[in-house]
Amino acid sequence: MKAKHASDTAGYTSAMRAIANLAPKAEKYLDDSFSVEFLPFPWFLTKPLFLARLFDPVIYSVGMKTPDKLVGFPGMTALACLRHRYIDDQILNAYKTGTRRFILLGAGYDTRSLRLQLPEATIVEVDHPDTQKRKKEILKRRHLQPNCKLEFIAIDFSKPWAETLLSHPYIKDTSTQTTMVIWEGVCCYLQESEALHTIGAARQLLQAGGTLVFDAFSAELLNEGTSVDILRKMRSFVEKKGEPFRWAEDEIPIREIITAHDFKEVDAVSIYDVAADLSEKENLDISKDEILKYLGMYCCRV
Ligand SMILES: C[S@@+](CC[C@H](N)C(=O)[O-])C[C@H]1O[C@@H](n2cnc3c(N)ncnc32)[C@H](O)[C@@H]1O
Repeated sequence: MKAKHASDTAGYTSAMRAIANLAPKAEKYLDDSFSVEFLPFPWFLTKPLFLARLFDPVIYSVGMKTPDKLVGFPGMTALACLRHRYIDDQILNAYKTGTRRFILLGAGYDTRSLRLQLPEATIVEVDHPDTQKRKKEILKRRHLQPNCKLEFIAIDFSKPWAETLLSHPYIKDTSTQTTMVIWEGVCCYLQESEALHTIGAARQLLQAGGTLVFDAFSAELLNEGTSVDILRKMRSFVEKKGEPFRWAEDEIPIREIITAHDFKEVDAVSIYDVAADLSEKENLDISKDEILKYLGMYCCRV
């Protein structure tokens, strides 16, 4: 991340969710009316258009395609929003079966504490101090109130951090609770050693049982000689933003890593599977052609 600067990519994912929130009924899989509050500059200048509602169809149809095409990797918006919906469902299912603690590693401008009904839960948002500072300022300025207990812990994952987190009062005092750790859209920005360190720390957070949910891009993302033009463009875009991709891995090695960390079960699904499943369950019209396909979702149980 750029020094003293909130994460740009966190701003982009919230912009994508603000756009997905305007989808027509037949295409809508994400309800997120709060993400619009976190739009980064210069996009926040468009907030009045989002709020007017009159322009929803235009913003949605232009927003889902044009920014992705301009930066050269169409399908990124659908990828990020399907990933988010998949994790929403994992959280709601875990809550139904008794999980009350949710730890978001690299939370960014996640709005789940504002929009999901988890009244007895605690959400602990762990993020880089610069991103978290901007988020807290916006929550305060806009008087946004969570529907559950919400706690913040500022941590830089590029420095040794597991001990700081594990001994933090919000964590330490509740180490007997079944927990879900959510690590969404983050591991691609970490060095492999940092990613493995995070999986090890997540395992420790799950001492009393629970699940780690995360996503990872296919290893092809980091293949220097890739023939996939879209992946080269993605790499170069995030590098220019000061948040280069550093780790990506395929399903088989990820299963090996997870098993080596003493997780008992791993469910792996591709982002295409997520779309197909939602299309069927909710009778939605989600075209595979509009999704960037190089992402896997992992649910790892202890
Ligand atoms: C693409 S955003 C994802 C945010 C959120 N999980 C989402 O899906 O919208 C990446 C997040 O990782 C965080 N991050 C990146 N590098 C980090 C680091 N070294 N330490 C702590 N957080 C970091 C950023 O602050 C940002 O919130």
